[in-house]
Amino acid sequence: MNLVLMGLPGAGKGTQAERIVDNYSIPHISTGDMFRAAIKDGTQLGLKAKSFMDQGNLVPDEVTIGIVRERLSKDDCEKGFLLDGFPRTVAQAEALEEILTDLGKSIDYVINIDVDENILMERLTGRRICKSCGSTYHLVFNPPANVGVCDKCGGELYQRADDNAETVGNRLEVNLEQSKPLLAFYETKGYLRNINGRQHIDNVFVDVQALLGDLNK
Ligand code: AP5
Ligand code: ZN
Repeated sequence: MNLVLMGLPGAGKGTQAERIVDNYSIPHISTGDMFRAAIKDGTQLGLKAKSFMDQGNLVPDEVTIGIVRERLSKDDCEKGFLLDGFPRTVAQAEALEEILTDLGKSIDYVINIDVDENILMERLTGRRICKSCGSTYHLVFNPPANVGVCDKCGGELYQRADDNAETVGNRLEVNLEQSKPLLAFYETKGYLRNINGRQHIDNVFVDVQALLGDLNK
């Protein structure tokens, strides 16, 4: 099962990715998570990515494509993968086609979580993430049982550096512009499947499962 998850910032990619990888046992490859880990570890990659991310801009394609090529070449991608937040530009999508051809693979579906732009500011500024296991919560839409504490592992919840109103505004602008040609690219290829992201988290996943069930038939 080779999947790409698309959607504007806050559409619910990470939230659905958690459920997909639990159910289908494929690795979750999030370029955003990879950059955040590199920043935390203080690596060269992290240094390159940080200034772009802090402003809500895209990290340059040449940096991003290189880390995805390396990641997709690992053994755990043999049985499939879930790309989350990559590709984000047509140049990245074209590079992904090349990478997959080299590896003898192809995409099954590009799942686009479709939402109205005007709800995303609230979703992102209210998001909280577990420091230990990475689980995602929302202060209103998906609160933990105990304030500030992860239900799954008891870890401490924190707010992402780019989830403040100013940076979110730019992220939305940048991603709106980039996503239109990308959606058209995948529509033309026949990979694109739209999922309604304007419903409860559990119902979004019901729709995802209905789609993925088709792959095993
Ligand atoms: P990245 O980490 O990919 O962030 P993003 O695309 O901005 O997406 P998010 O993680 O913010 O949102 P999401 O869709 O995963 O939402 P979530 O499920 O958490 O990228 C960060 C940065 O890294 C970029 O700005 C860029 O600088 C760089 N980068 C990454 N990839 C790159 C690339 N390919 N090229 C160049 N640069 C790159 O949900 C959000 C909140 O809403 C949560 O609180 C959740 O609980 C809640 N929620 C989710 N679903 C629902 C629902 N159905 N109803 C109500 N609430 C919901
Ligand atoms: Zn946790």
